[in-house]
Amino acid sequence: MKTHWLIGGLAVVFAMGALAFVQGGDAQGDGAAAAESGQPIAFPHNQHAGAEEGQNNMDCQFCHFSAERSVDAGLPSVNSCWGCHQVVAGRTEQAQTEIAKLRGYFERGEQIPWNRIYKISDHAHFPHMRHINAGLECQQCHGEVQTMGVLNERDPAWGGDNMGWCIDCHREPDPETGLQQASTDCAVCHY
Ligand code: HEC
Ligand code: HEC
Ligand code: HEC
Ligand code: HEC
Ligand code: HEC
Repeated sequence: MKTHWLIGGLAVVFAMGALAFVQGGDAQGDGAAAAESGQPIAFPHNQHAGAEEGQNNMDCQFCHFSAERSVDAGLPSVNSCWGCHQVVAGRTEQAQTEIAKLRGYFERGEQIPWNRIYKISDHAHFPHMRHINAGLECQQCHGEVQTMGVLNERDPAWGGDNMGWCIDCHREPDPETGLQQASTDCAVCHY
């Protein structure tokens, strides 16, 4: 079941990637912002996950593959980037420069050392899978990532450095039972 979804997803994603490549609309790399982002490669979310013309409408979980089964959402390996980019070379000089960096990591067999943006203290515990399986959308906590260029700061609505943000949502009533939707016992988040 899951495997079929994944293979179907892959096919669609590759087809769309190829389409965007052939069509060659106007490239919207956030060039300047990118160079200053402090990320090792200026990876723009909108070009990959955006649904506008010339964007690739990829599912978040195509890359963040473990969000529904693990504590961490996961980041794609350099090989999965290269699976597309050995063909997709980029249309602008900026894109080609960034994709050349990607090739460098791939050829050296190194993973890309992305800088972490969203992080809570080690004394608290956040399991992605519990939230995704409860039907929450990534955007509720991370904002409209599919419209963003290079990520270099947290969405202002994210409150993971403030326990009240977690507790407030956990206290909200479940629409079916009217009881609070998730536990607020200290021990579920701190252990
Ligand atoms: C083509 C692969 C790909 C797709 C599709 C993708 N992402 Fe990402 N995402 C990445 C990579 C690579 C990073 C690390 C670089 C960065 O922070 O931008 C990342 C980083 C992130 C981060 C920040 C992680 C941190 O460092 O704390 C969030 C949040 C995120 N993505 C959410 C999303 C959401 C939501 C979607 C769907 C709308 C999505 N991503 C689609 C590859 C992808
Ligand atoms: C499913 C195919 C696919 C995957 C997987 C993929 N990309 Fe892309 N990427 C594209 C397409 C298509 C474009 C748009 C290229 C264009 O317009 O020529 C693009 C554009 C880019 C650009 C150029 C942005 C700019 O400035 O214009 C960079 C950099 C990039 N991708 C990095 C990555 C990295 C890093 C990963 C892995 C985390 C990744 N890509 C995964 C298809 C993919
Ligand atoms: C209920 C809020 C919430 C939802 C929903 C959520 N996240 Fe997160 N996300 C967080 C928090 C909190 C952290 C920091 C976790 C930590 O430091 O342990 C985080 C961290 C991340 C990270 C970086 C670390 C990692 O887990 O790999 C990525 C990538 C990410 N989220 C992507 C996603 C994606 C993709 C989705 C949707 C499939 C999603 N998140 C849904 C709150 C959320
Ligand atoms: C937007 C709403 C929302 C936010 C924000 C949120 N959660 Fe949750 N959380 C939920 C829901 C809904 C569940 C219940 C999932 C279920 O019933 O399985 C849950 C479940 C959990 C669980 C599992 C509880 C158990 O009984 O085992 C933990 C741990 C958790 N959340 C930690 C956090 C932390 C830490 C934060 C803040 C960094 C946070 N959550 C922010 C909605 C949220
Ligand atoms: C739903 C998850 C959740 C629950 C339940 C929870 N906490 Fe927290 N707590 C957090 C998060 C997230 C932080 C902030 C982490 C950070 O700073 O990145 C935090 C921070 C703290 C801190 C550090 C002080 C601070 O302000 O940073 C203390 C002490 C603490 N919690 C105690 C408790 C106690 C006692 C309970 C039970 C009454 C409790 N927590 C219940 C998620 C939770």
